[in-house]
Amino acid sequence: MRVQETREQLVERLTRSGDRGVLRFITCGSVDDGKSTLIGRLLYDSKLIFEDQIATLEKDSRKHGTAGEEIDFALLLDGLEAEREQGITIDVAYRFFNTEKRKFVVADTPGHEQYTRNMATGASTADLAIILVDARKGVFVQTLRHTYIAHMMGIRHVVLAVNKMDLAGWSRTRFHEIVAEYLKTAEGLGFQSITPIPMSARYGDNVTSRSPNLGWHDGPTLLEHLEEVEAEDDAHGKPFRFPVQWVNRPNLDFRGFSGTIAAGMIRTGDAVVVASSGIKAHVKRIVTADEDLNEASAGDAVTIVLDREIDIARGDMLAGIEERPEVASQFAAEILWMHDEEMLPGRSYLLKSGAQTTPVSITALKHKVDVNTYDRAPGRKLGLNEIGFCNLSTSRPLVFDPYKGIRETGAFILIDRYTNLTVGAGMIEFGLRRATNIHTHAMDITKARRAEIKHQKPAILWFTGLSGAGKSTIANLVERKLTEAGFHTYSLDGDNVRHGLNKDLGFTDADRVENIRRIGEVARLFVDAGLIVTCSFISPFRSERRMVRELVEDSEFIEVFVDAPLEVCIARDPKGLYKKAQAGEIKNFTGFDSPYEAPENPELRVQTADISAEEAADRVIAELRRTGRLG
Ligand code: ADX
Repeated sequence: MRVQETREQLVERLTRSGDRGVLRFITCGSVDDGKSTLIGRLLYDSKLIFEDQIATLEKDSRKHGTAGEEIDFALLLDGLEAEREQGITIDVAYRFFNTEKRKFVVADTPGHEQYTRNMATGASTADLAIILVDARKGVFVQTLRHTYIAHMMGIRHVVLAVNKMDLAGWSRTRFHEIVAEYLKTAEGLGFQSITPIPMSARYGDNVTSRSPNLGWHDGPTLLEHLEEVEAEDDAHGKPFRFPVQWVNRPNLDFRGFSGTIAAGMIRTGDAVVVASSGIKAHVKRIVTADEDLNEASAGDAVTIVLDREIDIARGDMLAGIEERPEVASQFAAEILWMHDEEMLPGRSYLLKSGAQTTPVSITALKHKVDVNTYDRAPGRKLGLNEIGFCNLSTSRPLVFDPYKGIRETGAFILIDRYTNLTVGAGMIEFGLRRATNIHTHAMDITKARRAEIKHQKPAILWFTGLSGAGKSTIANLVERKLTEAGFHTYSLDGDNVRHGLNKDLGFTDADRVENIRRIGEVARLFVDAGLIVTCSFISPFRSERRMVRELVEDSEFIEVFVDAPLEVCIARDPKGLYKKAQAGEIKNFTGFDSPYEAPENPELRVQTADISAEEAADRVIAELRRTGRLG
């Protein structure tokens, strides 16, 4: 058990702080390229594998291995993998080994489909990336993609490990061919070093010892290189950054701010500033579980006590008074998309950066990166493993640094709001100027005042459902009934809005997201004007319906699911569009080749196959009365 504790403590300390004595690296490549075998070989040769594990390994290799009489190092990692399943680490397993010269932390990022997700996690703290290539197969798109990700994650050194040289006849020509092919593209990324090494991980050639089979190679072995290469050590020299994880207030006499120092260092007596408010204070105490410290630096988990009471909440940041972090709600970032479901500009995601979490949307995809050439390519959305340069807009201002300056406070992840899955990783490049020059102007006449004059509570009645389900018909009746009863209304309708405001939009997923985003903003303005606004849009995605819901107050959004089976809609076919869709004349038609995500918890559901439009409208009015929305 002692071993496990050591590993966890080491993860905490070594993966965070810069220390010249420690080299942090990742290996990139698919299982077939020999990634597991290479890590296994390094661990085995440096004797960090515990004796009983070696014994098991030798036994297992003879039983299941694919390496004949040799030890199958891939099995070693499979064995360690089981540990991960017991919950030692989440995304990435960190392995530790050392030689006389140096300590090493290797982020083992298991292959499989979600590879880039794990790779990005491991890469964010690494100094070096080993890019594995199978000597027989050469450079793949994957190879270049992993190289680009390493670059965008701030890794400065690359080893191009041309593996399986034994299967390529130890050919010098083949090696040089692959290196030339790789450098042609990778050289442009500006790595501090790219070191190609021919090797055979399975037999150990050029991994830890020099190989007679590769006598023509006059560069270092992999381990020699790993021992010599310069590691980043300036985390301590960077400006002080302390994201507040929680406010520690066990009793009235003590109030401290707890977290892990992300960058720089701090001493008692130092002046600090709260990034979001600009309020200053001095550090009175630096408290840890064991004792008070005089100083602490990047990677240390501490509780900071200030000399005066100031307002700080979880997610805020303490910083040095010079070189402060940026605070902005709009910024540009490079994003790696890691999910099957595409990233769509305009959709709302959750952004998490350190202790900060806020809703965010991508306001513009400026360009994508073609991973074959690293050229810019135009695009309107990002698919799995694609990389794009984007503008983003958060609901609350974000405290950050450009990623190139401080990795720890310049990185974020994007989370899907329904599945809670991490769908993207981002590196902030710069804050957007325009955001700092636009302020909210406070008006004398408020929404409440406008509504009061009209003697009503403003609201959005949102009708969603398939084309032909009856949304517009019901909304029209509802508006008539409301008007007859003396209410002030307005009506927004899919077909109508698409003739004007949204005439530039079609029916791709991206366009539908933008369609609803704009409608949502307009509906919000009508609510602000004190009106009851009916909105009839297919609005097939729950994400966007939720986004509109969140634009107004809780009681102001009433979602009405106008539910009719697809067959019924097809039979009605009021505009003859289903016929066209069936004949293949219209693409992306909802219910055919474009999805409809039914509401899970609508305020009201009306099944129009069973009741008339008139009755459905009455139910809507009844629901509004029942919940007190009509006063
Ligand atoms: S939404 O999906 O973006 O919410 P919206 O409600 O604005 O759609 O527009 C839907 C209307 O556009 C339909 O009622 C139909 O008349 C028309 N339409 C034309 N092409 C399509 C299509 N491919 N899919 C759905 N509706 C279409």
